[in-house]
This record gives sequence, C-alpha cells and structure tokens, in this order.
Amino acid sequence: MPRGDVTTVDMIVTKSRAELEKMYRAGQLLGEMLGELTQRVEPGVTTLDLDRFAEQWLRKAGAISPFKGYRNYPAHICTSVNEQVVHAIPANRVLREGDVISIDAGIRVNGYVADSAITVGVGKISEKAEQLIRHTEASLERAIEQMRPGNRLYDISHAVQSYIEPLGYTLVKEFCGHGVGRKMHEEPQVPNCGHRPHTGPRLRPGWVLAVEPMVNLGTAAVKIERDGWTVTTLDGRISAHCEHTIAITDDGPWILTQVK
Ligand code: MF3
Ligand code: CO
Repeated sequence: MPRGDVTTVDMIVTKSRAELEKMYRAGQLLGEMLGELTQRVEPGVTTLDLDRFAEQWLRKAGAISPFKGYRNYPAHICTSVNEQVVHAIPANRVLREGDVISIDAGIRVNGYVADSAITVGVGKISEKAEQLIRHTEASLERAIEQMRPGNRLYDISHAVQSYIEPLGYTLVKEFCGHGVGRKMHEEPQVPNCGHRPHTGPRLRPGWVLAVEPMVNLGTAAVKIERDGWTVTTLDGRISAHCEHTIAITDDGPWILTQVK
C-alpha cells in the first residue's frame, strides 16, 4: 500500500485466537493458490492468463479477491514483471525466458483477508536476478524473526533495511506493508526502511501484519505509470517483491500464508 500518515496504536485491531484461526485458513488457501499460479509461470503465458486462473481458482474455493474493485483496481491479482515493482495490472504482456515476475494476491474468505506475494523467474534467469529474489526473501525472513511481543514495530523495518542495503540493493520507500484483518489494509503501516531499531509501538499478540519488502537492483526511485497503478523503477532495472501475512503470538511469529 502507498505510504501515508503514521498511526496511533489504539487504531490497531487485535485479533482473538478464533479470528487468527480463520485468518490462517484464509492464508493457507492463498498460499495454495499462489503455488499453483507460480507453476503456471512459463514463457508464452500472459499475465492476463494468470489473472483468469486466479479468478477461477477463487470462485471454486468460494472466496473472492480483495484486490478487485479496491479503489477501482480492475483485476484479481497484481503481476509485476521485471522493471515493474508492484501493482501492475494483468494484461496481454507475454512472459519471456529470463523475466522475473512478482505475483501479489489476496483472498477474502469467511470475512477475513490474507495478502501474500512471491517473485519467481520465467525459465532460466540471470544469476543477478536469482540473487535479488533470494535476498528479498531473506530480508522478509529477517523481518519476520522480529515479530514477537516486546519487540517494536520498526524493528521489522530495520531488519529489512539493515539486511538489504549493505548488499548494494535499494528499497522502495513509497510503499509499505500494513495491518490486515477484516479489511485488506488496516493500521499500522509497516515501512521497509527509514526508522531506527527499538522504536515504534510495541508489538502485541493478536496483531496481524502483511510485511512486503520491495527491492530494486538499481535506483530506489519509482514512478507510477499512466494506468494509475503500475509502479516501475525509474531506471528500468529489475525489482523483486515478496509478502507474507503474519500473526504475532505469545509463541512468536505465525506465518499464516506459508504452506508447509
Ligand atoms: N499487497 C498489495 C498492497 O498491500 C495489495 C494491494 S493491490 C491492489 O498494496 F490492487 F488491491 F491495490
Ligand atoms: Co499487501
């Protein structure tokens, strides 16, 4: 989501154990769908093919896409290829060997939303691209490790930034993660950079956050295309994005969208 105003802690919804169980079921369904979507990624497939697959999959599962219609977003998923960072609208763009694609999807089922994204290669990709994806995933893992009661919100941001920047990559600062629950975007915002560690509100059991680092190979600068949605890198170099929906519990982070 676009970065906006900072939040106060009383606006953050705490979920009960029963609600977390429901969100887990949503997250597991979403993880399954994303797995099947990534299996369909190959040269010759269009991003619209992937959107149609998601539409049918969600219908069969008795679920809906929280993306479709959100501020008039016209599709069920976001499919961001190469220089596209996030929020690219599925279209007739044909995937080619060597491309990287971020598939960002959400699900709403039984009143609760889960949100997750994965970046994968199309066929064989360059070593540089492989590494960018692997490090983006690793930064999310570092962030998730911080998600336990007693730690603070910006420990999450700092974990991403302190991992990514020494590697020479850049972080997109205009967009961030977010709370998730009955709505796709709840408080608080979860930035990927720009904060000191050990600052921000203390994390509480029952909070559910979508954490989503966006990592560029070149410049951090991005622009929004004329469709009003697609975010692309200013220098045209590739970008990677991954996202999980994670609950904070007394036992530590619970990755609701991770399918074992
Ligand atoms: N993961 C994306 C976000 O949090 C999902 C929103 S896509 C939109 O911004 F199309 F619905 F906007
Ligand atoms: Co999100």
